[in-house]
Amino acid sequence: MTETVFDKDYLGNILYVQEYDLPAEAYELQINQNLIIIKHSDEAGKFYAHQTLAQLADDDVMYCGVIKDAPRFEWRGLMLDESRHFFGKEEVKELIDLMSRYKLNRLHWHLSDNQGWRVEIKAYPELCTVGGVGCHSDKTAPARYYTQDEIREVVKYAAERHIEIIPEIDMPGHAKAFGRAFPDLYAGKSTVNPASEKLYEVLETIMTELADLFPGRYIHIGGDEVSTEGWRQRSDIPPFMRKKKIKSYDDIQKYFETRFSKIVNKTGKIIVAWDEVLNGDMDKDKTVIHWWRGTHTETLEKSLSEGFKTIICTWRAFYLDYAQDSRCTKGHLVSKGVYNPMKKLYDYKFPEHSSLIGVQANLWTEYVVTPKRLDYMVFPRAIATAEKAWSIEENINYDDFLRRLEKEYLYLDKRGVYYYDFRNFNAHPEPLK
Ligand code: ACM
Repeated sequence: MTETVFDKDYLGNILYVQEYDLPAEAYELQINQNLIIIKHSDEAGKFYAHQTLAQLADDDVMYCGVIKDAPRFEWRGLMLDESRHFFGKEEVKELIDLMSRYKLNRLHWHLSDNQGWRVEIKAYPELCTVGGVGCHSDKTAPARYYTQDEIREVVKYAAERHIEIIPEIDMPGHAKAFGRAFPDLYAGKSTVNPASEKLYEVLETIMTELADLFPGRYIHIGGDEVSTEGWRQRSDIPPFMRKKKIKSYDDIQKYFETRFSKIVNKTGKIIVAWDEVLNGDMDKDKTVIHWWRGTHTETLEKSLSEGFKTIICTWRAFYLDYAQDSRCTKGHLVSKGVYNPMKKLYDYKFPEHSSLIGVQANLWTEYVVTPKRLDYMVFPRAIATAEKAWSIEENINYDDFLRRLEKEYLYLDKRGVYYYDFRNFNAHPEPLK
């Protein structure tokens, strides 16, 4: 940057130059005294140049100079759980707007879990009218879910901001809400019944509708924290295991994932799944792994070395449902003194590996009921996640990040975002719901 001041009257005076040599999403922003030149190879790069320009234009004085910028990772994600609590499309759009300011480009939308099924499937209205009843804090709360029209509206809104939405249907565990709609296909202990042929027919119909609804490349199929207890108590499971030559109860998940992933791949989508599925026979060319079990470093190594495209979202740094420090009283494991402060997230060291394609922060919402608390848990840690996902290691510097964050607090204030303010804890008291 030079010290020559840019005349903001010329902010609209932009020349676009398409340069195919630039990598995907990269841009070059030249700020001359009375002309701005944006070089880009794709529309995303052009969009990010504009986001940077908007950030610079927030300053009182804007200087001339050249910025050459490109992302470190292709997957820069945020996960929102709307099964435990439902926030609605306006809140999701607000989140998408904020994500786009920080060049986050994947919204992983956790739309099914034990507490509620949140996406309309026309073939099976009961998934929402029955499965959508209740939430984590009230089992009898009236059904809340997204209609297909609302989903299309949000998907389009996100696409206009270069954000791809990845819907998650979590199976075979975390499936109580599905089970309420389909008691015959439910095995107990949060799991579906893999011995039922009808299950696969129903899943095929659901995933075909879902694939149509979400034009992106990916569908997330869950696969985390699967208990075998429900299966062990059923009389139809042993004959099913004999027939399918499944040797152990643990191998049932493997069988299920293989079949379920084929159903999803048939829709043309690539699968994303939690790292537990690495115990099975997933196709590495059609499966992306979310590594979340931070104490299982061997699983991260397995995922990378076997050539699975891998996204790091370890709970030990990137889980936003954990409180930010000991002054907070609410959050996952807070009573055990476990926190995820922003510095821990920011200082996380990624392994260097060509199969590592991204990073993601996850907001589970058992203890997040209101948009106010959602803001509080997500910001500013999402901004730190965005910087980790975008910047190369040499540019990662926490003190410098904190200095630049001061300006973002002003932006968040202007937008009415109720962020956690560790500079002055009492400025934004912790919302308990
Ligand atoms: C998870 O946190 N169960 C993926």
